[in-house]
Amino acid sequence: MHIAFLNPQGNFDPADRYWTEHPDFGGQLVYVKQVALAMADLGCRVDILTRQIVDPAWPEFAGTFDAYPGAPNVRIVRLPAGPPDFLRKELLWPHLVRDWVPNILAFYRAEGRLPDAFTAHYGDGGLAAVLLSAETGIPFTFTAHSLGAQKLDKMHPTPGTLADLNDQYHFAERLFAERLSMNRSAVNITSTVQERLEQYAHPAYRGAVDVHDDRRFAVIPPGVNLAIFDVDARADNEAATQAHVRAMLARDIAEGRRDLPAIIASSRLDPKKNHLGLLQAYAQSPELQAKANLVFFTGALPDPLRDDGNASAAERAVLADLRAVVEQANLWGKVSAFAVGGQPALAAAYRFLAQRGSVFALTALYEPFGLAPLEAAAAGLALVVTQNGGPSESLRDGQTEYGVLVDPGDPADIARGLARVLASPETVAEYARRGRQRVLDRYTWERTAQGYLAQIERVLRDPDHGRAGVVDLPLPRYFQSGQTEDAISVGDLAMLYFQK
Ligand code: F6P
Repeated sequence: MHIAFLNPQGNFDPADRYWTEHPDFGGQLVYVKQVALAMADLGCRVDILTRQIVDPAWPEFAGTFDAYPGAPNVRIVRLPAGPPDFLRKELLWPHLVRDWVPNILAFYRAEGRLPDAFTAHYGDGGLAAVLLSAETGIPFTFTAHSLGAQKLDKMHPTPGTLADLNDQYHFAERLFAERLSMNRSAVNITSTVQERLEQYAHPAYRGAVDVHDDRRFAVIPPGVNLAIFDVDARADNEAATQAHVRAMLARDIAEGRRDLPAIIASSRLDPKKNHLGLLQAYAQSPELQAKANLVFFTGALPDPLRDDGNASAAERAVLADLRAVVEQANLWGKVSAFAVGGQPALAAAYRFLAQRGSVFALTALYEPFGLAPLEAAAAGLALVVTQNGGPSESLRDGQTEYGVLVDPGDPADIARGLARVLASPETVAEYARRGRQRVLDRYTWERTAQGYLAQIERVLRDPDHGRAGVVDLPLPRYFQSGQTEDAISVGDLAMLYFQK
């Protein structure tokens, strides 16, 4: 089987050098790389089709072909789309129509063979798949990753502000492309049931796909990279990370408490992640304070409770709230915060603190999927996690609990959840065991790749791809020509978005 991933934005390089350096080089790169490698391990030939970027800031993205070490069946194929330099994803739309899709067709025709199926990622990959499929009849799966209508919702648009938002983010192209992608795909792949039933049910997608039609959807969660996060994995900097954690605890935590279990929070300093609720829970519970220290891992700030360093204004606001609680509840000597840089070091720190019966806490107000707690569980930590979003599916199955779910808006409930897990060394160990087993059973990239392949095989077996009765949405002129005079107008966007 020969499968091509469509990922025009961002880029891929064998050393993953630029992950997170730009908003377009985010989680989608990790996801696509891992699924592609796992599909190749299952015997497929895989191409990751992306955009060629000839830009001195990212010299690795200039070549047409690349490969990951030890994965001869995965090709990274970079093809031109518009000008050679880097373009943020919002600006790619006309270039996909005019150049990228024709270049993909020319590339495979020159090789003498088209792939068996495409798998499209994000609205821009989706648009490319729609055009390729219209030309060749090859079916595709669509994985949205993030849908534009929800992003627009968060900006609280009014008919008066929509034009400005559209100028910046090109929502008109994005929403029309997403509608076409979910409508014409053989199957839409989501990470959670909630994503399918809530996000795809947004009024802006009405008439594009029936979210209750099981032929059109598959829930396939992403996986944990066990090469990094498994209890038995070892990072190159394992010992150095352990020494760093010990040194930071010695800096921040009172003598006599430094070997206690830790309640670990590791996420961006963003108000949505609700570090404050976790700290308030700890502040109001003498029982928790007696049993454990509270430890915040921050991406790059070495001493964030005392020094803002190069924190952004938004991060400073979060830190100011945290410091006020530490001060008021006199938690100095019980709370620590320091930088742990990069995934291997993070995993090493988790493993080190897991040995003393520590707990990973994510009390975000809403977490769409929640990969971070699953990574922590793989590394041996017990989990106390927000009940809002994906964790309600990953950590609970009927009455079976794989971690404790808490109401992030209620510090007392967070404190109760932590106390349940920390009740005894045996309870911590039992939750840690269950969480890890859950990851091994359900959340590995191998499982994700198997899920994709099962869907693709089903689609290839079934000539109408389970689409009988589905009416194709028409292709706007802009997506045929890519010419400015055909552009989708803000009026068209307003009609779509504000329809009720
Ligand atoms: O990297 C993950 C991801 O969801 C990408 O798919 C996308 O580039 C970005 O994050 C989110 O994009 P947006 O903010 O435009 O929804």
